[in-house]
Amino acid sequence: MAEQIQPIRGMNDVLPSEIGTWQHFEACTRELLGAYGYEEIRVPVVEHTELFKRAIGEHTDVVGKEMYTFADRGGESLTLRPEATAGIVRALISNGLLRGQRHKLWCLGPMFRHEAPQAGRYRQFWQVDVEAVGCPGPDVDAELIALGARLWGRLGITGLKLQINSLGTPDSRRAYRARLLEYLRAHAARLDADSQRRLAGNPLRVLDSKHPDMQEVIRGAPLLTEHLDTESRAHFEALCAMLRAVGVSYEINPRLVRGLDYYNRTVFEWITPSTGAQNAVCSGGRYDGLIAQLGGEATPAIGFAMGVERLVALVQAAGGTVPAPRPDVYVVVSGPQAEAQALELVERLRSERPRVRFELNLGGGNFKAQFRRADKSGAPLALIIGDDELARGVVAMKPLRAESGQSECPIVRLAAGVDAALARVHGGGPAAP
Ligand code: HAM
Repeated sequence: MAEQIQPIRGMNDVLPSEIGTWQHFEACTRELLGAYGYEEIRVPVVEHTELFKRAIGEHTDVVGKEMYTFADRGGESLTLRPEATAGIVRALISNGLLRGQRHKLWCLGPMFRHEAPQAGRYRQFWQVDVEAVGCPGPDVDAELIALGARLWGRLGITGLKLQINSLGTPDSRRAYRARLLEYLRAHAARLDADSQRRLAGNPLRVLDSKHPDMQEVIRGAPLLTEHLDTESRAHFEALCAMLRAVGVSYEINPRLVRGLDYYNRTVFEWITPSTGAQNAVCSGGRYDGLIAQLGGEATPAIGFAMGVERLVALVQAAGGTVPAPRPDVYVVVSGPQAEAQALELVERLRSERPRVRFELNLGGGNFKAQFRRADKSGAPLALIIGDDELARGVVAMKPLRAESGQSECPIVRLAAGVDAALARVHGGGPAAP
């Protein structure tokens, strides 16, 4: 046998046994986003490397260490998207969609980061990304967060905690950065290698270190929230009041800084105690400066992205696994005449009853083998197309999960016969919509 080709580390197959839960997650999300007035957008998986460098920031882990960057055949530097915000903003600019317009958009797709894979952390992972472009006020921040809370409820996920913070404006952050640098330099000997590196590039990211030895230094650091400008403070207080008004509990985490450079003012993360170190299932924030930074007209915006693998795992853990859909009717075929006519008959039924799932036995097999497959398929009803029956103008029907016996139905009334038989076995129509 030829040597097998291995999958890429950290890049997962989503198998048919899991796809029902993924589709359930996607359907709930799509429906809720539609109800809040968000429209779907699809942007390329590959963009010019420069886009991510400029949007996410050269000193971030994502740009510095994690991007899948390559030269294409024309020698251009391209990158597999590590996140969707930069691409969506690029799309708004390149399609001339800004011009003072507001946009509420969402996008589903795979993202790529060369991180160390572990449970909940992958190199290809899926995000649902949500962006509200054109609104400066805290109302949109609060509504986005409320949307998340409502989605967890619909998915049956409990126990998520919301952490929020404000990063202020670039100016207030500059003043804070100077204070923080002073503090961190005074404690330079206690910083780990990663934090030393961050100190030079983006000292705020030191606050994000998960290194246990760093926690005491971080606890003693000056707080960004104490250096907010007046407007950012008012924005943050209004957001908190709105969250309280709609009953969304939150915790202010003054050390929440996020790993991407484009944020200002509101940042937030929904975290779960149940997935270990990879505990953020949904995170985002405001990025009022990004659009101008990427060459568009200055437009305020805010958004978040959900990690689909992490949320699907929580749906499963909450007992919400959705099995793959099963057929309603398994069609057993016996005899040369029947084999010649079965496809035509089943195709006609599929036209007449588009909502019923018919699974036609393919590839032959004796009666016993076909019934074994019928049983395994989970279908509640079998149709038996045999030469004898065809000669008499009928098809046999047999419930597979009930004791009631076999019956016959004239071919000319087969669709109605299937309806009636399914109604008997389901106590209603077909199971699948
Ligand atoms: P992010 O925090 O980098 O933000 O990622 C958002 C979410 O994606 C995380 O909360 C997590 O659930 C999931 N995620 C991130 N990395 C991985 C990974 N390696 N494996 C599995 N899941 C992962 C962003 O990407 C921003 N673009 C969010 C945003 C949108 N901000 C404003 N608009």
